[in-house]
Amino acid sequence: ISIYKFDDNFMTLYRTELVRYLTEDLGFKAENVVVQDGKGDQAEQTNQINNFITQKYDVLILNLVQASSAPEITDMCKEAGIPVVYINREPDEAEEQRWVDEKINATYVGCDARQSGTYQGEEILETETKGDINGDGKVSYIMIQGDPENVDAQYRTEFSVKALTDAGVEVEELLKQRGDWDQAKAQQIAQDALNQYGDKIDVVFCNNDAMALGALQAIEAAGRTVNKDIYLVGVDALVEVVENVMNDKMTGTVFNDYFGQAHTAADKALDFVNGKDVDNVYMVDYVKVTTENAGDILEMIK
Ligand code: BGC
Repeated sequence: ISIYKFDDNFMTLYRTELVRYLTEDLGFKAENVVVQDGKGDQAEQTNQINNFITQKYDVLILNLVQASSAPEITDMCKEAGIPVVYINREPDEAEEQRWVDEKINATYVGCDARQSGTYQGEEILETETKGDINGDGKVSYIMIQGDPENVDAQYRTEFSVKALTDAGVEVEELLKQRGDWDQAKAQQIAQDALNQYGDKIDVVFCNNDAMALGALQAIEAAGRTVNKDIYLVGVDALVEVVENVMNDKMTGTVFNDYFGQAHTAADKALDFVNGKDVDNVYMVDYVKVTTENAGDILEMIK
């Protein structure tokens, strides 16, 4: 297993569950499950994967630093006869189709990020003011993006706003900036935006919860109050964020089901090893987190 970087809140939950499931539920010995940190550096991660190949591991589960490296890495694994399960960072469609056309033992397990974006937009539409909390007739927002090379970031950005415009709501983008999935970067972006745009901002969209937590710090420091004079949504359903949603400190989030994703990824890795048929793509559903179901979600993740 190689994770794009260990220093990522969501991927840490995912990785922990993946190892737990492989060892406790599927019965792998701990010493047979090796996990490495890609440290956010594709060259370094490619080296690690080369070492995995030299050591003849039976199957690889890879969370690439750059999804665009999938064709090269897939070919390396194919040469060596080692199947690969990609997770979390989706290779492009042409690459996924090539696995089918060339009968390559590779698959992707993830979620359709369009769904999470749409849910974020719906959460804003479901607020009392339909997102227009300052009442000036349009929904003005700032968008704090993940790594824009990542399709999760691209789709969440596009589809959160699309949910509003599809509902006939007028929108205005005040700012769109990359926060690379990172809490501290997002806090700075939100702080600068609040200084610059003040009460004009109705909504802060964040592509993930780590960044939403950063934005929340900036919002509170600026003397603003979520759900009173500004809305804030993220994606992932980190424990702290789900608690904030329950306590009316954040508007909403979307559960990025790392249990379902980790289990499917491990199951498919085992299927490859056992010579079973494996499709090229498996998608796990996102779940909208509302005040009604937040308690149930919290029970699952805590
Ligand atoms: C998650 C982010 C995470 C990223 C890593 C996304 O699906 O929502 O929190 O940083 O994956 O690739």
